[in-house]
Amino acid sequence: MRQKIVAGNWKMNNDKAETKALIKGIKKSIKKLPLKNTRVIISPSYVSLSSAVKKAKNTNIEVASQNMHQAKNGAYTGEVSADMLKSIGVKTVIIGHSERREYFGETDELLAEKIDAVLANGLEAIFCFGEKLEERKKEDHLLEVGSQLKNALFHLKATDFKNIILAYEPVWAIGTGETASPEQAQEMHAFVRNIIGKKFSKEVADSVSILYGGSVKPANAEEIFSKPDVDGGLIGGAALKAEDFAAIIKAI
Ligand code: PGA
Repeated sequence: MRQKIVAGNWKMNNDKAETKALIKGIKKSIKKLPLKNTRVIISPSYVSLSSAVKKAKNTNIEVASQNMHQAKNGAYTGEVSADMLKSIGVKTVIIGHSERREYFGETDELLAEKIDAVLANGLEAIFCFGEKLEERKKEDHLLEVGSQLKNALFHLKATDFKNIILAYEPVWAIGTGETASPEQAQEMHAFVRNIIGKKFSKEVADSVSILYGGSVKPANAEEIFSKPDVDGGLIGGAALKAEDFAAIIKAI
């Protein structure tokens, strides 16, 4: 079912005490919001996931991981598996964030394997994709996004999309303060919905949630979320302040 979702990607921020304080702040700030139809997700670092799950228990806040390894287990120093995440109660995993692609060499092919591992384990993926500035300048953004989706997701079955959330994150808008205009976001989201519809089915296209990410803040959230194909946001910097995160949730 298509859902409204606001997800905070904490990246490599917040130690144990900061994680505790931020969750406490978010709980307090969202208490009075009518969250009936909106999912709120936070994704702390691996070391804080377990305590975050405990602190978010019996609240509307869900906890996601920022990454996951595709193998079941084994000699992969520094990595974390689906079983490990499941064992602490994590049900959602961000896959393919542009920082993973850029700094850790994650390719479309690897991301296809990671998506398979997420789904095979009964987890849910927030799958990120987006074009770089040069691609946008050359007006190749639709082509690039189409190719990222095709390479990582087009081998799936229509029913797999029950456990997939899409997140369009133009790389030039991440952490730069520069946001895609609501029209640019809408153009891309409609394009994505259209190609998903053609490849899978109209039902899949209509029911998949597509989030926008890239410098979303309280001041611009409402306008972006007002676009018909934007179902929510993946928030970086502004998810690190409880009041800002709550203001973005309120804007949906
Ligand atoms: P930003 O990050 O909101 O700080 O631009 C978004 C993201 O990387 O998910």
